[in-house]
Amino acid sequence: MKRIVILISGRGSNMQAIVERCGAEGWPANVVAVISNRADASGLAWATERGIATQALDHKAFADRAAFDAALAQCIDAYAPDLVVLAGFMRILTEGFVRHYDGRLLNIHPSLLPSFGGLHTHQRAIDMGCKVAGATVHFVTPALDHGPIVMQAVVPVWPDDDEDALAARVLRQEHVIYPRSVRWFVEGQLRIGADGRVTHQAGEAQWLLA
Ligand code: GAR
Repeated sequence: MKRIVILISGRGSNMQAIVERCGAEGWPANVVAVISNRADASGLAWATERGIATQALDHKAFADRAAFDAALAQCIDAYAPDLVVLAGFMRILTEGFVRHYDGRLLNIHPSLLPSFGGLHTHQRAIDMGCKVAGATVHFVTPALDHGPIVMQAVVPVWPDDDEDALAARVLRQEHVIYPRSVRWFVEGQLRIGADGRVTHQAGEAQWLLA
C-alpha cells in the first residue's frame, strides 16, 4: 500500500474528497497523516474524527522559511510517504523542500495554469473577461505554480459571475480531478517524460470539461 501525507491550511475539502474516494474506490493506498501549518484548520478535526493522524506545525514559531520547511519535512518523513499532496496548503515552499520530494509532490491550483498563478485567481480571470476558468493538478517544482501538469478541469465563466460563484464552480471540479490524479499516481499510471510532460500510461483523458 502506498502511503499518502496531505498538507492543508484550512477547511480541507480537497483532502476530504481524496480520503473519501480512496476508501470508496479501494485504492492501493492509505492517507496516513494530515498536517497543517494552522492549528485551527477545520480539516484537521475532520481527519481526526476519521482516525487519521494529524499534526499542526505553526510556521510563525520558526525563525524563517527554511527552518519551518526543515521541521515540516521532518514531520512528513516520520510517516514515510510515497506521495505528499498539497491541498490548499497556503505556504510558499523552499527549493530544498521541493527537491526533497521531487516526483512525489502534487499540488492543485484553482486556475488553468500557466495562466493566473498566485492569489486571487478567480477575480483575475473575471477581470480579464475570460470565458472559461478551471483548476490544474501538477507536480510541484521550485517555481511557484509551475511544474508538470497532470490534469485540468475547465468550467464556463458566466457574465454575472462573482468571485465566490466562480470559485464554487471550480471547486466542485477540483473534487473530481484531484482524487483522480492521486489515484493515478498511487496506481503507478503517471509518467513524466524527458520533455517534462505528464502522460497517463493507459491513455485516460487528462482533462475534464464541466
Ligand atoms: C482550493 O480551491 C485550492 O485549489 C486552493 O485553495 C483551495 C483550498 O480549498 N489552492 C490554492 O490556491 C493554492 N495556491 P480546500 O481547503 O477546501 O481544499
